[in-house]
Amino acid sequence: MRSSLLGALLPLVPLSAAAPAEPVKVPRHATVVTRQTLLSNYTFIIAGGGIAGLTLADRLTEDPSVTVLVIEAGPLDAGQDGILVPGAYAPWYYFWPGLNTVPQTGLNNRTISAITAQVVGGGSTINAMVYLRGDADDYNAWGALGNSGWSWANMLPYFKKAETFTPPSAALAAAGNISWDDSVRGHSGPVQFSYPNYFYPGSANWWNAANEVGLPPVNDPQSGSKQGVFWIPSALDASTMTRNHARRNHYDRVKDSRPNYHLLTSNVVGKVLFNGKNASGVCYLSTTSTSTACSSNVYATKEVILAAGGFGTPKILQLSGIGRKKLLQKFGIPLVTDLPGVGQNLQDQPTLSVPYTFTNNVVPNYGSLLTNATYNAEQHARYDAGQSSAYTLVSSLSSNIGVLSLQKATSSYRQIIKAAALRDPALSLPADVDETVLAGYTAQRTAILKQFANNDVGVGTVHWSTADSALVYHLKPLSRGTVTINSTNPLENPLIDFRTGTDPADVAVYTALFRKNRALFAAPSMQALGPTEAAPFGAQLTTDEQIYAVMRDQINPSNAHQCCTAAMMPLELGGVVSSEQKVYNVRRLRVADISAWPFQLSGAPMATVYAAAERLADLIKKEYCLAGAC
Ligand SMILES: Cc1cc2nc3c(=O)[nH]c(=O)nc-3n(C[C@H](O)[C@H](O)[C@H](O)COP(=O)(O)OP(=O)(O)OC[C@H]3O[C@@H](n4cnc5c(N)ncnc54)[C@H](O)[C@@H]3O)c2cc1C
Ligand SMILES: *[C@@H]1O[C@H](CO)[C@@H](O)[C@H](O)[C@H]1NC(C)=O
Ligand SMILES: *[C@@H]1O[C@H](CO)[C@@H](O)[C@H](O)[C@H]1NC(C)=O
Ligand SMILES: *[C@@H]1O[C@H](CO)[C@@H](O)[C@H](O)[C@H]1NC(C)=O
Ligand SMILES: *[C@@H]1O[C@H](CO)[C@@H](O)[C@H](O)[C@H]1NC(C)=O
Ligand SMILES: *[C@@H]1O[C@H](CO)[C@@H](O)[C@H](O)[C@H]1NC(C)=O
Ligand SMILES: *[C@@H]1O[C@H](CO)[C@@H](O)[C@H](O)[C@H]1NC(C)=O
Repeated sequence: MRSSLLGALLPLVPLSAAAPAEPVKVPRHATVVTRQTLLSNYTFIIAGGGIAGLTLADRLTEDPSVTVLVIEAGPLDAGQDGILVPGAYAPWYYFWPGLNTVPQTGLNNRTISAITAQVVGGGSTINAMVYLRGDADDYNAWGALGNSGWSWANMLPYFKKAETFTPPSAALAAAGNISWDDSVRGHSGPVQFSYPNYFYPGSANWWNAANEVGLPPVNDPQSGSKQGVFWIPSALDASTMTRNHARRNHYDRVKDSRPNYHLLTSNVVGKVLFNGKNASGVCYLSTTSTSTACSSNVYATKEVILAAGGFGTPKILQLSGIGRKKLLQKFGIPLVTDLPGVGQNLQDQPTLSVPYTFTNNVVPNYGSLLTNATYNAEQHARYDAGQSSAYTLVSSLSSNIGVLSLQKATSSYRQIIKAAALRDPALSLPADVDETVLAGYTAQRTAILKQFANNDVGVGTVHWSTADSALVYHLKPLSRGTVTINSTNPLENPLIDFRTGTDPADVAVYTALFRKNRALFAAPSMQALGPTEAAPFGAQLTTDEQIYAVMRDQINPSNAHQCCTAAMMPLELGGVVSSEQKVYNVRRLRVADISAWPFQLSGAPMATVYAAAERLADLIKKEYCLAGAC
């Protein structure tokens, strides 16, 4: 494969030739190219060069007295069209290999391949570019779980700091119903975001049908509430109409001026090294190593920061001796601290594709790209010429999307909330769960049930590609899963159990979302296209039981939004990190990535991962008086 070949050739990418004088060379894995230099110690070592990792590395190296090493399991992307051109979207180049769930008991025991990135930039390099904040209550509720300093009001400046919004043309905004509130959008940050410059005519039918079933136009989905329909903000650089990923905005953008920013690619952090309870560095090995143990150490003079994503971070913690005592004992891993919350609380945002056929669909639609070679060639040529083009839309997505509260999804919302409130939370977790983790889940459940009653918080998303399928996303699951090491080999994948659909409230909410999508297709503006809900669904499925019986076989437990496996909550609530994202009971170790979230947002993760890393960078700068922070 082209991509992995390039990765093998570029294992270490120092930022310039101006490496510090007389660097100490430490042994590296034999397959590593030897022209580069690694220092024996860095001020900060970051495990994982995804969204959170690169954002922090950029911000911390603003101080020239600081040195940062990012160790990333994947290579630099090769700039393929499949990465950079939205309409050529091909994320599979950089999927983490061999990752599967264990059989999902709530989903007919299906085993599903679990998707996460293994590439510099992490998810931002291969994701669907949806750049969407959560709702205000999400951050407020995280704060109310005992995380001081977390609220929508505190996050808003960081959302803005993170990004630069480029508006669409006035003509497109008017024709396409694009609206926004400039006061909540950033204008000078590194992440470029904008909108595609094209829409399929059928997306107007969908928009109007959504309006007809109570999903009105939203002025700005980034303003803390988004009940209705809106254009999807996209992590798209409007100057080139290409993906703006963390590799671009937090590495390429600054690399020429940052000799203190080092990136070691295609290497895996195996574990954190400790000096007593102080994190002192990491050991690492080549991602393609045939050895099963770390061979090389590198040291951090201030902190080790974990940013390896929702699967990677709990795995590193467990391998390092931070996790549930029972588990670590089973593998003979010396205990650094017993934190039973590590690897618990796994959540994602399940997805469901609902197929449709049409007697009267409008063309062109997304399907035209696949079936009409003339249209495809024409749109490709227009894209290459910098004109409006379907290639500015992420392949398989259309331009607009809808988010809905539980009240908007179903008039039965009170019954759903009541039944969920009566359920013993312990029934929703694995039988042998630690009592602190149960206490934390109980607190989360209360917070999420409040959100179910709040008409400003989304619980689901609906979308239509304009071709043969609709998508229904479940944003706020109550089911909780686990990530657990299965050996001490850092190159072996952990056991992933989403436990999707094991909580009956999730079944009720998701079925309600399915029905709302069905209602949208039954509204006059969609009926004009002659849609028929197709197999394995169909109009013959009328009861909730019949519908969910098919859903159980169709739901994908993941939208690659895996989170919350090293949750920020008080220790007595099974938390792993404090509100400053410091791992409890040890020093000099933080978690920067999506693992630290308590629970899923009413949105997509990317925008919040960027903003939360901006926030954390400021906290760290203040703590150590870096870059003039004090
Ligand atoms: C295919 C796909 C589509 C998605 N679509 C969207 C979307 O449209 N909108 C949206 O908001 N979100 C989307 N997401 C999710 C979003 O990209 C992630 O939630 C986000 O990237 C998480 O950021 P992070 O920094 O926590 O982790 P990541 O960005 O995943 O970064 C973690 C990095 O750590 C590396 N790593 C893991 N373990 C180790 C180790 N032991 N040593 C060294 N490195 C390690 C990984 O290779 C990875 O690069 C999508 C994700 C995928 C994969
Ligand atoms: C870090 O490395 C430098 C050489 O690059 C060395 O002079 C210094 O003593 C090291 N510091 C620690 C704490 O190991
Ligand atoms: C799933 O597997 C479990 C445990 O092996 C079993 O008890 C259950 O009956 C299975 N469910 C289905 C639907 O096959
Ligand atoms: C925009 O909104 C108007 C008014 O509701 C509607 O007539 C039109 O079809 C919509 N167009 C799109 C592209 O959503
Ligand atoms: C750990 O760090 C603290 C200060 O952060 C220091 O007082 C202590 O001596 C260190 N312990 C070890 C074993 O290095
Ligand atoms: C295919 O696309 C071309 C160019 O846009 C268009 O003229 C033609 O009508 C399309 N054919 C069909 C069958 O839709
Ligand atoms: C977990 O480890 C056991 C014992 O080594 C092995 O048999 C099993 O295949 C592993 N499971 C996965 C999913 O890797």
